[in-house]
Amino acid sequence: MAILEYVSLQPHNTFGVEACARYFCRVATKDHLVNIIVEELQYHNKYLIIGGGSNILFCSDYDGLVIHNEIKGIDVVKEDEEFVWVKALSGTTWHNLVLYCVEKNWGGIENLSLIPGTAGAAPIQNIGAYGAELKDRFESLEAIDMNTGEERIFQNTDCRFGYRQSIFKNELKGKYFIYSITLKLSKHPIINTQYGDIRNILMEKEITNPTIRDVSDAVICIRSSKLPNPAEIGNAGSFFKNPEVTEDRAKSLYTVYPDMPVFAQPNGMVKIPAAWLIEQCGWKGKQIGHTGNHARQALVIVNYGNASGVEIWQHAQNVQRSVKEKFGIILEPEVNVV
Ligand code: EPU
Repeated sequence: MAILEYVSLQPHNTFGVEACARYFCRVATKDHLVNIIVEELQYHNKYLIIGGGSNILFCSDYDGLVIHNEIKGIDVVKEDEEFVWVKALSGTTWHNLVLYCVEKNWGGIENLSLIPGTAGAAPIQNIGAYGAELKDRFESLEAIDMNTGEERIFQNTDCRFGYRQSIFKNELKGKYFIYSITLKLSKHPIINTQYGDIRNILMEKEITNPTIRDVSDAVICIRSSKLPNPAEIGNAGSFFKNPEVTEDRAKSLYTVYPDMPVFAQPNGMVKIPAAWLIEQCGWKGKQIGHTGNHARQALVIVNYGNASGVEIWQHAQNVQRSVKEKFGIILEPEVNVV
């Protein structure tokens, strides 16, 4: 249970930026984690839990203890005729969990294929893509209190899920270590192809009766064609959330920009794709220094090789400013800036 000193965080963030952790440890079991909490945390002024590092931008060195989650495993905890309850330990790579379930024909998370990160990070921002969100399949999670080392169960409603939101990003930010998540998946899956791009691919392949594997393959195909692979070009997926505006505001923007895509929300608000706003400001495919906006998805900010976290963050703020000037809309980062 060694606590290491001055460890590079470059391999631990998908932006691939350089930052140094003053202290660093890996945890591979629950006992190990509890031991760190009870024995070690008192000696550190702050701590940061990281999984895949796929939603984080380091703008400076980290002057505390970085805890790297390596607690992995997948297990079935319950099943009946209709459903299977699958528990994944939090350090499990999310996409491996998806592939495992697709292989068994357990439906519900196939639309979330290829999302980077770990299973434990998934509930924190209620990951979502291609017409599905984690919260629709999420049953419960086990968390460890970072003050006491005690365990606590959070049911779905306790997590207060919203669009890229949960209690773990708000009131309870940094207070709990998510140890495992349990999902309720269907043994007789209903395919979700509401997202046009998925339907188009299935049509192209002349698949009329798709399985969840077909859907998963289609999502992998869309993501690979639009989103840069972090192993090749550093990035953290969408940098900003899609903003919501009032219907009145959307209408007045619409009169000026009749091409603006709009998505009416159940709460009466209107969601506008951040990617579109950014593209209208001329950022799509633009490289400035070592950073820029990806040519196939304007919402993805990339590291072309040697960008620092500060450079990327300054660029993101320039993008934010220009969208505010042109549209009067403030883009909120989806990525955690540390
Ligand atoms: N668009 C543009 N320019 C672009 C890209 C998109 O104008 O360069 C417009 C198009 O009108 C398009 C619309 O934006 O129809 C939506 O684009 P897309 O379907 O690519 O999705 P997104 O809203 O940009 C969200 C998630 C992604 C997720 C996709 C697919 C957020 C912040 N992002 O992106 O999640 O994969 O939908 O469902 O909600 C992530 O969170 O890191 C992420 C990649």
